[in-house]
Amino acid sequence: MMAAPIGAAALNVPLVGRPGSRARLETPAAVLDLDIFEHNLSMMSQTCRQAGIGFRPHAKSHKCAEIARRQMAAGALGICCAKPGELMALFGAGIRDLMLSAPVASAVKIDRLARAAAEGGRICVVVDRPDLITAYAQAASRHGTCFDVLVDLDTGLNRSGVADAQAAVDLARRVTQHASLRYAGVQAYQGRVQHIADFEARRAANAEANHVLAGMIAALRQASLAPDIVSGGGTGSHQLDAQAGLLTEVQPGSYVFMDEAYNPVDIDGRGGPGFGPALRVAVTVVGHSSTGFAIVDGGSKSFALDGPAPRVLLGQEVVGRVEWCGDEFGRILPNAGDAALPIGTVVECTVPHCDPTINLHDVLHVVAGDQLVALWSVEARGRAD
Ligand SMILES: Cc1ncc(COP(=O)(O)O)c(C=O)c1O
Repeated sequence: MMAAPIGAAALNVPLVGRPGSRARLETPAAVLDLDIFEHNLSMMSQTCRQAGIGFRPHAKSHKCAEIARRQMAAGALGICCAKPGELMALFGAGIRDLMLSAPVASAVKIDRLARAAAEGGRICVVVDRPDLITAYAQAASRHGTCFDVLVDLDTGLNRSGVADAQAAVDLARRVTQHASLRYAGVQAYQGRVQHIADFEARRAANAEANHVLAGMIAALRQASLAPDIVSGGGTGSHQLDAQAGLLTEVQPGSYVFMDEAYNPVDIDGRGGPGFGPALRVAVTVVGHSSTGFAIVDGGSKSFALDGPAPRVLLGQEVVGRVEWCGDEFGRILPNAGDAALPIGTVVECTVPHCDPTINLHDVLHVVAGDQLVALWSVEARGRAD
């Protein structure tokens, strides 16, 4: 059940189901355009189904149990999480098939994960060093449960994972030596590939990572440790991964929401992002600057700024771009020749980068047509632990 909303979201509760309510939201408010979201959701599941590749979407982009449930209903194999806290928040909200896609260094957090597994979670973890394997094995055994384990491979991201085939074989073998661990395969996420805008350049970079990965998989096979699961990829590479046939599943995150960072990326080689901008932040024109710009009530506390400037939407129409002017405010740079919007106008802005933006909001205002239709809790908001 959703926690009682606070702030602008609480003021918006009476608007649910009211005609015209979308343009009357109290702001700043994270908004989910339901039609675009459903399009994004079904496009990913269709692409993967047609290509015969699985998908285990990443919750780091949305942090929302309702979205995770809908991804599972659309055929996802499970839900990836970046941090134990994010995973525990979704587990607490009823999601059971969860994978922690990064190694950890805390015995306390490992114990919590084992407890979740003992309470009915099907928890998959990744390992990139021997002591982490021991820690997971001991925690699972203490709680009378089991973890699925992927060996984390570095195919060029240079963040976590082993880059050496023999090290991968050694780790996989160690995993098989523990009764409380099940060796399930490997993870190889190449994050540097995802945002390369040009399709052919991204294909070439992905092929380079796949070449490294293929060598490591061959070594594992040779050692009778062939991986069942080969997990990796994201929104930017999922089509290439589906064609390459090396991964058994992809981990796309941003596709549900999309953002300005992904907007220039030619995801399918047809010239555009393919997925639509489902996540917006609604803001209100609260005044006009002495130089004549419309000032809106959203700044760095409502948008993560690490991406290109948002487009400003009034209905379907793009009426300008936001330029930041502080933690709480932005100014609208209108299209050439347009007058500043009147005070009180509610506009929706696309977001520079969806993952850290959703982390600033407790509630998603779900809109369809001209109405606010639901409020969804962002259960893992703030869970960077
Ligand atoms: C391990 C891992 N998998 C998947 C993703 C999802 O990537 P995207 O949002 O580009 O789809 C990320 C994003 O950073 C990630 O770190």
